Amino acid sequence: MSTIVIKIGGRAAENRESLGALCDELLIISREHRLVLVHGGGAEVTNVSRRFGIESRFLDGVRQTSPEEMDIVDMVLAGKVNSQLVRLLRVRGLDAVGLSGSDGGTFIGESVAGRGARTRTGEVTHINVRLLIILLDAGYLPVLSSTSMDADGNGLNINADTAAFRLAAQLEAGALVFLSDIPGVISDGSVIQALSEEEAKSLIDRGVIEGGMVPKVTASFDAMDKGVKKVIIGQYESPGSLARLLEGKEGTRLWK
Ligand SMILES: Nc1ncnc2c1ncn2[C@@H]1O[C@H](COP(=O)(O)OP(=O)(O)OP(=O)(O)O)[C@@H](O)[C@H]1O
Ligand SMILES: [Mg+2]
Repeated sequence: MSTIVIKIGGRAAENRESLGALCDELLIISREHRLVLVHGGGAEVTNVSRRFGIESRFLDGVRQTSPEEMDIVDMVLAGKVNSQLVRLLRVRGLDAVGLSGSDGGTFIGESVAGRGARTRTGEVTHINVRLLIILLDAGYLPVLSSTSMDADGNGLNINADTAAFRLAAQLEAGALVFLSDIPGVISDGSVIQALSEEEAKSLIDRGVIEGGMVPKVTASFDAMDKGVKKVIIGQYESPGSLARLLEGKEGTRLWK
């Protein structure tokens, strides 16, 4: 049974209608594949932060998380988004288990500015999929938020796209699918069906790929470098979308 890692973006995870159809499809696919879900929630973190008087800051599409905002990241991602997703999956018949990156030491990281630095935006330094494998072997569907911790026990916010690619590589996944709120990587108003690394670099340089799409495209090629053969960026648009994305009939397939 091959493993498929699916990363669901925050806005994509809020669309209950398409998410319901996705759950139905996951149930079918789960009979033939081991599935791991990773979710984001960036837009909701920004909204809730604003309510607490914190203005989110981004650098190359990656949130620069202050210690104050880290509390909100924990509440929104490991709390609200993760719980809602697990509940929805369970109602649709999937045996979902919600986890954060801290659970079972799945991923441990370090502040991007180095150990002890103030910013809580982190990068993964250790990954351990033992807990995930125990859950997968027992038939559960793990649902992970990308919040994690550093070696000193402080909370760490890891970009969910990066967390998904690291998990896909470590689990030797056959496919990594990014479900977002756009039908694929867009250039000149249409979805690019197949995107090479060279073309992606040029689109980033020209600002055609920007914001949250930058870490996603970067994570995609990093995953391929680590042996994940199939990486797709797209959207869950209608019933059957996941199969069509996996078959290359929808979304953007990355290649190198
Ligand atoms: N060339 C592009 N093609 C498509 N989307 C792009 C492009 N450049 C920038 N984007 C932006 O990238 C966004 C998707 O990334 P974003 O980080 O916002 O969502 P996500 O990763 O799905 O969710 P989360 O960050 O919550 O995990 C799109 O909504 C779009 O605004
Ligand atoms: Mg994102």
